[in-house]
Amino acid sequence: MKIFLDSAILSEIKLAASREIIDGVTTNPSLIKKAAESFADSVDDSSMESYIKQILATVGRMCPVSLEVAGLTAGEMIEQGKILYEKFDPVASNVVIKIPVCTINTSGEGDPFEGITAISELSDEKIPINATLVFTPEQALLAAKAGAEYVSPFAGRIDDRIRRRAGISFEKSDYFPMNGIVDDTTHEAVTDNGLVSGIELVARIVDMFSQYEIETEVIAASIRNPIQVRECAAVGADIATIPNSVLADMIMHEGTRAGIDAFTGDLVDEYIDLFKPEETGEEPSGPQYV
Ligand code: E4P
Repeated sequence: MKIFLDSAILSEIKLAASREIIDGVTTNPSLIKKAAESFADSVDDSSMESYIKQILATVGRMCPVSLEVAGLTAGEMIEQGKILYEKFDPVASNVVIKIPVCTINTSGEGDPFEGITAISELSDEKIPINATLVFTPEQALLAAKAGAEYVSPFAGRIDDRIRRRAGISFEKSDYFPMNGIVDDTTHEAVTDNGLVSGIELVARIVDMFSQYEIETEVIAASIRNPIQVRECAAVGADIATIPNSVLADMIMHEGTRAGIDAFTGDLVDEYIDLFKPEETGEEPSGPQYV
């Protein structure tokens, strides 16, 4: 499974890229806002443009970077998608345009197919699209039909919705079981649109694409903890896009820490001596190990 960094913070991206552990980057307007807040100087059009160009150059040619449009109509998204692609793709040929699969907001006004129309038209122009804010396998299917190169199911946000429905208080990073939770009164699984967890959403899309030989790749998004990453891999997600905090948690384990203590405590001098620079012209002293 590929790993994308779900971040717009250049320092995080630089570090992860230098460690060669990421295969791409995803941004969204909320992540750009967070990054812009961390700019030392004031943010204007030119600083934002050069900042994004640095991100693209840092991750390089083979690592896709998703940049999201801001508009809500097909016309706006198509225009903005082209602007983003033309402005930024020349830097490292790695720009992917992120389009919401449906732009109807909570007030419910408008044409629900604006996103699909934009995906279709931009894909026809060979601009790679990441269909975002995917909450059902059906949305993923429509995005794939329209030509999206990637779909991004929001696993963590499905879990949030289920926990809210069940009246469970939670922290964003809390683990939610992939097999869901059972309501104490009804003894039935608490679901969101028939899904028992965000990982089930990822799994169903992966299975559907595999069954129908759809080439669109699945980016498991809205990832909140390392166990969710493990489960994304288990259900066959092509990619998991992971925040820096989760990436940091993925490398840590209490057993590894205890093992480091034990191994460090057991080091004998003769072994440590192996790492000392050799002194030339002198007879080696002490026991020799062959
Ligand atoms: C990535 O493409 C998504 O925008 C992101 O993973 C959303 O994550 P969140 O639900 O933690 O905000």
